[in-house]
Amino acid sequence: MTTSVSSGGAVEHADEAHISAIAALNNLFAPDGLTLHRSETFVTSHLQDYQVLRDDNGVVLGCVALDEYSPSLVELVSLAVLPTAQGHGIGRRLIAAAEKLARERGYPELFAISLADQLFLSMGFCASSIIDYPEKITRYQQISRSELSIGRKFCFTRVLRGGASDTGIVSAA
Ligand SMILES: CC(C)(COP(=O)(O)OP(=O)(O)OC[C@H]1O[C@@H](n2cnc3c(N)ncnc32)[C@H](O)[C@@H]1OP(=O)(O)O)[C@@H](O)C(=O)NCCC(=O)NCCS
Repeated sequence: MTTSVSSGGAVEHADEAHISAIAALNNLFAPDGLTLHRSETFVTSHLQDYQVLRDDNGVVLGCVALDEYSPSLVELVSLAVLPTAQGHGIGRRLIAAAEKLARERGYPELFAISLADQLFLSMGFCASSIIDYPEKITRYQQISRSELSIGRKFCFTRVLRGGASDTGIVSAA
């Protein structure tokens, strides 16, 4: 199926029609450890936490999700953009949308584990350490030690301070 990157629409909340595309897109990058493998069952049960960006034909070009650890801490996860759609600002738009949703939900802090250091730094995140997130270490020790070693190198955090009215939101590109 062809995609129309330049005309990609707004980032929107995911719905049932997007589940298989989200899982497939997310899992494209799981073998390289860039994302955690997610089943369609997992995506279905966390659908309210996923957002997508689609092209004019309805093809999901990118996705992102929030993963709550506690009412005061949430992680940006499942950030993925189709290889053919990368480099057009979709990643930035998805990060901005995830941050906006996190603010709306009242989380004071958002963190991410990623190899895309320049991307997160340019979006107002600060480099931090996985050591600051014992909840993450505990969860990942149950999953994969290699994930933990990736996380130790590339951890980013963004203090959201207040609610959705906070003007510190970084604009989407
Ligand atoms: C990371 C990813 C989501 C970026 O998506 P994208 O749509 O290509 O990103 P954008 O076009 O918005 O890029 C914005 C900027 O980030 C930079 N960037 C993108 N991917 C990057 C990476 N892997 N490492 C460092 N910088 C990166 C771009 O060069 C661009 O910089 P510029 O504006 O100065 O040119 C995409 O490459 C991807 O899906 N990667 C595989 C999965 C992954 O690594 N997910 C992150 C898990 S948190």
